Amino acid sequence: MSNKFDAIVKREQSLLCNTYGRYPLAVSKAQGCRLYDLDGEEYLDFLAGIAVCSLGHSRVDLAEVMAEQAKKLVHVSNLFYQEPQLDLAEKLLATCAAGKVFFCNSGAEANEGAIKLARRYMHRVRNEDRHEIITLEKSFHGRTLSTLTATGQTGPIKDGYDPLPEGFITVPFGNVNALRGAVNAHTAAIMIEMVQGEGGVRPLPSDYAADIVALCRENSILLIVDEVQTGMCRTGRFWAHQHYGMVPDIFTSAKALANGLPMGAVLCSDEVARGFTPGSHATTFGGGGVVSAVAAKVVDIMLEEKMAERALDLGAFARVEAQRLMTKHPGKIAGTRGLGLLFGIELSCDGPAVWKGLLAKRMVCNLAQGRILRLVPPLTIEKADITAFMAALDSVLETLPEPA
Ligand SMILES: Cc1ncc(COP(=O)(O)O)c(C=O)c1O
Repeated sequence: MSNKFDAIVKREQSLLCNTYGRYPLAVSKAQGCRLYDLDGEEYLDFLAGIAVCSLGHSRVDLAEVMAEQAKKLVHVSNLFYQEPQLDLAEKLLATCAAGKVFFCNSGAEANEGAIKLARRYMHRVRNEDRHEIITLEKSFHGRTLSTLTATGQTGPIKDGYDPLPEGFITVPFGNVNALRGAVNAHTAAIMIEMVQGEGGVRPLPSDYAADIVALCRENSILLIVDEVQTGMCRTGRFWAHQHYGMVPDIFTSAKALANGLPMGAVLCSDEVARGFTPGSHATTFGGGGVVSAVAAKVVDIMLEEKMAERALDLGAFARVEAQRLMTKHPGKIAGTRGLGLLFGIELSCDGPAVWKGLLAKRMVCNLAQGRILRLVPPLTIEKADITAFMAALDSVLETLPEPA
């Protein structure tokens, strides 16, 4: 490791709260699908800021939109009408069946808003004491107290934050009877991810998804879909729920929405939107001019350049390449999973060693649940980059012993 890197690590230790298990890499520049470290070494980026920079890094077209809007109007408060917000709302609503949108600043904030909207709709529109939110094991919904409680994971993520808010139930993934048993007279909504990203790239089986929709309809409860990671063309449709032919009552977006600027959105039916009234929910920064203008341009580019189709095509290509490696290293790769370019390679050998080996070969990806290589590259990545990644993985696997 270089002296420059050591210096940055030391500097950070004296300045920042110690919340991140950082990768041993300091990024000084990013361009397209490539990252550059402090010494100018190039890395292929299969992480994209964890499914954020879907259109690639440092785009001139987005920088121009950003600069133009910043010279005109950066912030004026949500006390005022603002056109960039409406332009974005029109474009986003045209991609789905939702009727209304609320803009905020992050994934957790969007999910927090979705939970609040579900409860308020039940209390103020339906006049029913329905407040419980049911979520699935291994889900990830964010780190505010409510979204943390909704998250179906244990460990440091939840440890030490008691008391957590009431009104959340988590049930085992894939078991519709467990879900049915959890629904009661106080249930407001079932909240799901179509593909669990942090949970190890697990797509919801389609019959299970259909059962969840039926359960919601039979019991007149709301279906909330967390599309923070899956949304914006990542999985091969504009929204992942569109693979399943379902219409959620509420769904959320964030990560790729403004290609790296902080933005979130809660999208919902016109009916459920009645739950919010002036003063019931708000944000200082949400839907600001600059992020809205950039996000509107992101939607335009994604549609014009058919990013959903591209994600589907490249995801299929990655699957074939990974399965070829699986045939070559049957004891080390257990399988592949995912949708589009939210792609997972399940390892049956030493996951951290593979991840480290890839980084040494200048390939950046994520290791979920200790054994799933999660690939969420910019959707603009080329097939040749995927081939290069698989060649690097092949040579890393060659050097590792067969698991006992
Ligand atoms: C599915 C899902 N929901 C919510 C979040 C939280 O988003 P944020 O970190 O922007 O609060 C994430 C972040 O990884 C996520 O993957």
